Amino acid sequence: TKMAVFASGNGSNFQALYEATQDGRLDADIVLVVADKPSAYVLERAKQAGVPAFSFTPRDYASKQAYESMLVEKLDRAGVEWLVLAGFMRLIGPVLLGTYENRIVNIHPSVLPAFPGKDAIGQTLEAGAKEAGVTVHFVDEGMDTGAIIAQRSFAVDGADRETVERKIHEIEHQLYPESLQQLFSRQQSV
Ligand code: GRF
Repeated sequence: TKMAVFASGNGSNFQALYEATQDGRLDADIVLVVADKPSAYVLERAKQAGVPAFSFTPRDYASKQAYESMLVEKLDRAGVEWLVLAGFMRLIGPVLLGTYENRIVNIHPSVLPAFPGKDAIGQTLEAGAKEAGVTVHFVDEGMDTGAIIAQRSFAVDGADRETVERKIHEIEHQLYPESLQQLFSRQQSV
């Protein structure tokens, strides 16, 4: 399975996915990293890993449709079959959704449908929620609204933000490769 990882920032989830493809936990290849910010640290990680990467600046394009059409061309050329969003801070539009129908997934740091959107961890703590967690889900036109693939949660128990964040990342780095492995193997057997 050939996948592209889309990210806007640090890229620790890219790193975890990449490592899983290297040690056989995830039977897939990351053939392209796409960043919507030329300064995103994920680009440095991709370089270190020897994974081809591409960055662009959305405001250099007339519209979402324009940059997504450009992306489709690049993704197509790289033979990409699945889009894996990992901290990509932008809504996916009709061009990509139409091209990769049911083959776009995202990871979100809350137990959806609770706390969609930005700063889900902050929202969780602010609301005084009992549980924090992570969701892997299909991407549709909404913000963190697509069908849920996998979830894992834990009790907040008065923990501070730093602790909750660390736990969430720990879970993400396991759950994402695991969920994708299941998803891809299911697809191949149908
Ligand atoms: C993760 O918490 C992910 O759930 C959210 O953005 C964060 C990205 O972290 N969508 P990283 O860039 O992979 O380290």
